[in-house]
This record gives sequence, structure tokens and C-alpha cells, in this order.
Amino acid sequence: MSVTPPIHVLVLAAGKGKRMKSALPKVVHPVLFRPMLHYVLDLAKAIGGASTTVVVGHEEETVRKACEGYTDVKFVRQAQQKGTGDAVLCAEPELAGRKGVLVVLSGDVILLEKDTVAGLVQTHTRSEAACTVGVATLDDPKGYGRILRDGKKLAAIREEADCSIAEKEIGEVNSGLYCFDLDVLFSSLKGLENKNAQGEFYLTDAVVKLTQSPGGVELFSIENAEEMLGINDRLALSDVERKVQAKVNRHWMLEGVSMINPETILIDNRCQFGKDITVEGPAVIRESQVADGVHIEPNCRIVKCKIGANTHVKQGCYLDSSEVGEEVAIGPYAHLRPGSVLEKKVKIGNFVEVKKSRLGEGAKASHLSYIGDAEIGKNVNLGCGFITCNYDGINKFKTVIEDDVFVGSDSQTVAPVTIGKGSYVASGTTVTNDVPPDSLAISRTKQENKVGYASRLKARQGAKKK
Ligand code: UD1
Ligand code: CA
Repeated sequence: MSVTPPIHVLVLAAGKGKRMKSALPKVVHPVLFRPMLHYVLDLAKAIGGASTTVVVGHEEETVRKACEGYTDVKFVRQAQQKGTGDAVLCAEPELAGRKGVLVVLSGDVILLEKDTVAGLVQTHTRSEAACTVGVATLDDPKGYGRILRDGKKLAAIREEADCSIAEKEIGEVNSGLYCFDLDVLFSSLKGLENKNAQGEFYLTDAVVKLTQSPGGVELFSIENAEEMLGINDRLALSDVERKVQAKVNRHWMLEGVSMINPETILIDNRCQFGKDITVEGPAVIRESQVADGVHIEPNCRIVKCKIGANTHVKQGCYLDSSEVGEEVAIGPYAHLRPGSVLEKKVKIGNFVEVKKSRLGEGAKASHLSYIGDAEIGKNVNLGCGFITCNYDGINKFKTVIEDDVFVGSDSQTVAPVTIGKGSYVASGTTVTNDVPPDSLAISRTKQENKVGYASRLKARQGAKKK
């Protein structure tokens, strides 16, 4: 019986990705709001290898920065992007002398499953090959290296650019997923030639060279060919993104989330959902936790939020970096900006913007409001058109409204200011001074009715017209 050797992982991510036609390095392009490289690094983690090394080069700093959260990753530099063979060779100083096998992943192949890689490593170990290559048969093999066989054995891997017309017809392709014995890998990369259409040193040439070694090369068929789709241009990017989206949505639907128009729902793979949730598309939900019984109506964007159980997010809401309690109602068309906290049973109605504010249990702002830098107590009612004037052009100031305050419509608080518990603020009031508890604040001029004024005015206006 074969024993699994230590597994090291190498991720190729130094290329520019010319076909993306972008200033941004390809591996950093987002797929469902995350750099595509994250999916590969997550896979490397899931494989549970002894080490993960990433080859960087083109726009190296941007790529390294994109990997910031992955603290165990080592980087090696490929000064010039001379091809995949050269890229692997750049890892020699880091990996030479290590025992075991090296799994090579491409930074642009992000749908591979952990079990597929495990299957390939197992085949590699069992067969005692020097190298095992993941292959698959595609309906449209365009752009991939074709597998040329001699009987069952690998004869050559021909890049698209180097293929004859007949070779282009071959549907079996190289996935870019390999397992190498570390003992033989680096020597096979020495003396490669770059006499090919792209003038590059191909890793695939080293693989073909290893067919002549004692272990030879094994081919491992990837059962679900979709997994090996590479992202070379923006068409493939969109195609792969749709597959990631379908995978995430499928997972959550099977876990008890109902989705209406799931093809328009974008949920990234850092979200958590409870049971009996309904999400109506289109929707974007990123890095958020959504508890049981939540209903999200169409056209909402929820980023870095916690949404409590049985909360109702009505159509068209934009929620960012905020915490929402249980049984809250938000929207339609409300905006929670970073640092907002809505406690249990809060109601935020249409065209209400909340920023860095806390609303206590049962508080309401049902229509047309701006609530910024405020502490709003329990059961406070903020009338239509209430505004916290929190900014003097330089500094921001805080508004405190204690429990059970009733604020009439069209009022403002000029912060810093505190309204004491249980007080009333009359409609149309501009609160500039603190209001003690149990008081009425009113700041408006007394109304005067000039009876008959309207017809006198009209008469004057009529005389002028003539
Ligand atoms: C490569 C394979 C091809 C295979 C396909 C599968 C070679 C020569 N060809 O082609 O047989 O079917 O993957 O997806 O290997 N990179 C570097 N340094 C370089 C060049 C590339 O780090 O100098 C990195 C890229 O950033 C990318 C990966 O290697 O992540 C693959 O490079 P890419 O140019 O996309 O190769 P393909 O043409 O797709
Ligand atoms: Ca590629």
C-alpha cells in the first residue's frame, strides 16, 4: 500500500493575462467580489498541504496585496514572464530539497474541487509516476493545450498556438493541474527550449520530458470537465463567475433558503444563512450573516451586515457594514451606512438614511429622514422629514435622543444636542439646545391668519397685469 507523501502546493500567478486586456493583473480580477486567486488559495488550504507557494511577477505588489489574508503563503518571484515552465523553476530555491510531491495549480483555474485534487494525488502516488496530469475532454477545447496520445500513454501536449489544423480537432486537453515528484521536477525543467509559437518555456514540455523517466507520466481524467475551465478572457470570467454563483446558490437553497430568480442573486462565499429565508432577485449579498426567517425583497445590496431573525428588508435597500436586530422592517428604499445598529423591532421606512447611529428597540423613522452620528433610545418616534444636522463642514457631532421621545415631522436637531427621556419635539422645530426630560421643545413663530388677504392680493395682481 502506498503512503501519501507530504504535499506541497505551487500556484502560478505571475502572468499578465494579456487576453483580459486589463491594467489589473488577471489573477486579481474579481469573481463574485473576490480576487480569483482567493479561490485557488482556498483550495490549497483545503488540500491541507505542507506548504503553499505563489509565483508572482507581473504587478507583483498588487497580487501580493490581494493575498494579504493568507498568512501562510510564501511568495517567489518570476522576474520576467517567460512561460509556465520558467515560473515553476522560479520556485526551486524555495522548494528544492523538500520531500514529497508538488501540486501545481494555476491562478486562473478556480472551479477545481478538493476531491478532484485528492483523486489526482492518489492516482499519482498509487502509480508511482514522476508526474500526473489532470486532463478532460471539452466540447470546445479552444485555447487549451491538447493531449496527444500514443496508445494510452501521453505523447505530447500541444498548445493551441502550436497546433496543426488536425490537432485542433482534439477535444482532450490539459487542465493545468499537475502533481510532480519533487525529486525529479526541477531537473526536468532545466534545458527547456522556447522554440514555439509563443516563444515561452512551457511547463508542458517538462511533463512530456518526464514520460521518458523511470516513473513516466500518468493521465488523470477529471470527471466533471467544468472544473478545469480556465479564465483567460472576460468571456470566460463571466462564464466561470456564473458557475460559482450557481454553486453557492444551490448550496444555500438546499440548506433552506428560498430564492426567487436565483440567476439574478449574487451571494459571495463568505455569507452565512439560517433557515426559512426568502431572497428575491436581483440581489447582492456579500460577507453577511442572515438569520432565520428573514425576507429580502428585490433590488437590495447587503454588504458586511448581520441581519437578525424575521427581519423584513423591503425593496431597494442598500445596507453596508451594519447590524440589524430581530423583527426589524427596513425600506423600501432605505440606506444603512457603516456603523449603524438597529435593535429589535426598529422600523426604518422609505428614503431614510442612517449613518453610524444606534436605534433602540422599537424606535421608528418611517419616512424621509437622515439620522447620522446619533443615539436614538427605545420606542422613539422620529416623524417624517426629521434630520440630524451633524456636520459643520469640518467636524461631526452627536445627537442623543433618549427613550420614548416623540419627534414631530420636519424637525431638526443641530448637534451636539440631547433630548431627554419622554419629551416631545413639536413639528417644524429646530432643536439647538438640550431638552430636559418630560418637556416640549417648540421653536417656531406663532401663526398669524390675515383673513381676506388672498383675494386682496389677487385683486392687486390683476390690476398690475392690465
Ligand atoms: C496553460 C497550459 C495549457 C493548459 C492551460 C489550462 C502551458 C504552456 N499551457 O495554458 O496546456 O491547457 O494552462 O488552463 O502551461 N504564468 C506565470 N508565468 C508565466 C506564464 C504564466 O506565472 O510566465 C501563470 C499565469 O499567471 C496563469 C498560469 O500560469 O495563472 C497559466 O498561464 P496561462 O498563460 O493562462 O496559460 P494557458 O495559455 O491557459
Ligand atoms: Ca490559462
